[in-house]
Amino acid sequence: MAPKAPPRLGGVVRPPGDKSISHRVLMLAALARGKSELSGLLTGDDVKSSARVLRQLGADISTIRDSMVKVSGARLTAPGARLNCGNSGTTARLMLGILAGQKFAATLTGDASLRRRPMRRVTEPLKQMGADINERGDGLPLTIRGGTLRGLTYASPVASAQVKSAILFAGLTGQVPVAITEPYRSRDHTERLFAHLGLGIHERDGAISYQPSAVSIPAFQISVPGDPSSAAFLVAAGVLASAGELLIENVGVNPTRTGFIVVLERMGAQVERVNLRDEGGEPVADLLVRPAQLRSTEVTAAEIPTLVDEVPILAVLASRARGATVFREVGELRVKESNRLDLIAANLRAVGVKAEAQNNDLHVEGSERPPRGKVETASDHRLAMAFAVLDTVEGADVKLSERKSVAISYPGFFDDLGKTGARRTAHGAR
Ligand code: S3P
Repeated sequence: MAPKAPPRLGGVVRPPGDKSISHRVLMLAALARGKSELSGLLTGDDVKSSARVLRQLGADISTIRDSMVKVSGARLTAPGARLNCGNSGTTARLMLGILAGQKFAATLTGDASLRRRPMRRVTEPLKQMGADINERGDGLPLTIRGGTLRGLTYASPVASAQVKSAILFAGLTGQVPVAITEPYRSRDHTERLFAHLGLGIHERDGAISYQPSAVSIPAFQISVPGDPSSAAFLVAAGVLASAGELLIENVGVNPTRTGFIVVLERMGAQVERVNLRDEGGEPVADLLVRPAQLRSTEVTAAEIPTLVDEVPILAVLASRARGATVFREVGELRVKESNRLDLIAANLRAVGVKAEAQNNDLHVEGSERPPRGKVETASDHRLAMAFAVLDTVEGADVKLSERKSVAISYPGFFDDLGKTGARRTAHGAR
């Protein structure tokens, strides 16, 4: 096959709505009194899973589209069937928090990947609050019967926004005070939304606490910013291109999510933030990206929660940088949609890069050779997108085992990647 010409960047792209915020606004709107209007929602499969589950519990939610979704909140009622959370860990874990405060039983399940993911990190604190949870192992399916809860002060052993949010939601629906500390600060979208809606949220000395107040959750209108985790793939394509400039519009730049940009700038790239503004309590900007020569770096354990979903694409970028990059304490990646830690390393090796998972660290050695080989995505959307971006570099020949998993978080990914001007091939199963 003839080698590809160096890609030239150009144009303007808009990533889809933030996945984390989309789940949370849907859930809060379902709990609110009255009709809420949500715009800019992600239309990916994970958000549809949250909508489906909330509808089974009695919420009236219009079709999930990015223009406008109307939600009529209601008192939640017992579901007639199991709640299938699909591939979505956020749906399962946050819904457990919401269900902890309801006076009925519900059984949650999910697809094969989700059923393998740990749930005890959430069920443990919820049980301490008084929820009755019937689980067979550390995963789904499980049955939760909520009810009268007691308050909780909890030191989470993991820096997980899902754990923190589940406890905050349990406090909200059970109307009891909760306080949470975590080893490192995880994304704070739940806290910001609580504050935006006037729900009693406070932070002091790194502890997040919720204090119930008598008022019900008001219906609201909100615009969801673009997802920085999805934008990261476009930014990476921009950095790896050989010439040109790319504008990525409407990207959330909440500091608990922008570790990717911080690390990339340390590696020698420049990601300019322009048109900085606020949307519903979240900072938003447009990102201007240009190609760059990258150098290796060390990504610290404290940085990981701010870029936890970006490790696959950062590892791909590290494979094109000068020198050896190490990601410290990324053991959490073993329990994402796939065993991302081992798969990133194995897939980089499969395309000719030296990479290794050692204990909980990931080591990647940069290379100038064109990446060539077959990649196993294990139906993990972020692996598929990361390696699709690697396939845009000059001379690359990276074949994906599948590409439809991108619909989980970024249904229009391949179209948008094409719009950046970065070269794309017809590789991979469709
Ligand atoms: C998420 C939190 C992160 C992230 C996931 C979404 C959220 O998981 O990986 O994609 O919306 O709260 P953890 O909280 O388990 O780290």
